[in-house]
Amino acid sequence: FKVNWDMEQAEKNGYDHFMLKEIFEQPKALEKTMTGRLNKEAKQVEFEELNWTHEQIKNWNKISIVACGTAYHAGLIGKHVIEELTRIPVEVEVASEFRYRNPIIDEKTLVIVVSQSGETADTLAALRQSQHLGAHVLAITNVVGSSIAREADEVILTMAGPEIAVASTKAYTTQVLSFYLLGIYLSEAKGTLNDEFKEQLVEAITAIPEKIEEILEHTKGIQWYGESIKDADSVFFLGRGADHAVSLEGSLKLKEISYIHSEAYAAGELKHGTLALIEEGTPVVALMTQEAVSEKMLGNIKEVKARGAQVLGIAVEGDMKIWDYVDETCFIPAAFSILTPLLTVIPLQLIAYYTSLALGNDVDKPRNLAKSVTVE
Ligand code: G6P
Repeated sequence: FKVNWDMEQAEKNGYDHFMLKEIFEQPKALEKTMTGRLNKEAKQVEFEELNWTHEQIKNWNKISIVACGTAYHAGLIGKHVIEELTRIPVEVEVASEFRYRNPIIDEKTLVIVVSQSGETADTLAALRQSQHLGAHVLAITNVVGSSIAREADEVILTMAGPEIAVASTKAYTTQVLSFYLLGIYLSEAKGTLNDEFKEQLVEAITAIPEKIEEILEHTKGIQWYGESIKDADSVFFLGRGADHAVSLEGSLKLKEISYIHSEAYAAGELKHGTLALIEEGTPVVALMTQEAVSEKMLGNIKEVKARGAQVLGIAVEGDMKIWDYVDETCFIPAAFSILTPLLTVIPLQLIAYYTSLALGNDVDKPRNLAKSVTVE
């Protein structure tokens, strides 16, 4: 649809771009995703909209997450979270691949389709194919009454509110949050979490919006960094575990709106190819928030530094060991390793925004891309 200039300005609510407005809306959007689902008093998760019995949940021997673009990246975090919390094996696949092969899906599979718009053609096709094969389909979507919401067996609405910018931000974080809530919910039936840990996790999730606010209050350094990489030929994102999944999203954001070539690598894969591309001055964004592999990650940072990379390290507040090995540091507020994706993605979204802005690109409407891909 077409909106006139005045209306568009009003809708931006004082922000220069929808993308920036939507980045700043994330704390509120996440509160909405939690409303009615995260019971702060009882410290547990409830989903009135899900009509599953414990028997049904126990019957699933596999979860298959299918989506496109940023929603696919949310699914990659979903895999980490659901496997960790429920021990149910999870696979994640892009819908355009899933639909054209012969996926191993049956009545014992829960398929989760993720789609902001609820209209992406490939994701809708994957949903229909999964149902045809006998799977039960849950949709995680932002749009009530969308095709995907109507056809899925169950729906979790992300409640992010309208997202206008082509580069998705608040839709992603609300999808990721939905996976945490779903993981805790499924763990009840599976009996995989002890009460104490579950309560701590629920409490920690409740604190996430405030922590995002904190990051959003100090964006100067991130702005400076975004501007500093505007003339780079390539930017690399490195991480391990959930940090790797987030770095894929950070890389996608950057290429979508800055048009700079960018790739994200599982840091342990560096020596199998990527290291050859690191030269004097190559920007590298290194995420180091996963406690279990932080020493390994530090080793990878040293490897790229030794080849002349300019490294921005993203780490958890208080984790000072990164200081000596990087050129710039961005600290996120302390959180459980499992929850850091909701925080680390914020500086990555902002880097993409400020790089694009410094280049004078059309931040909200990048070339060649559409908000919703309803045809193949
Ligand atoms: C397009 C958009 C992306 C989005 C993807 C999937 O490529 O530009 O931001 O992630 O489609 O869209 P969906 O609505 O299914 O989440």
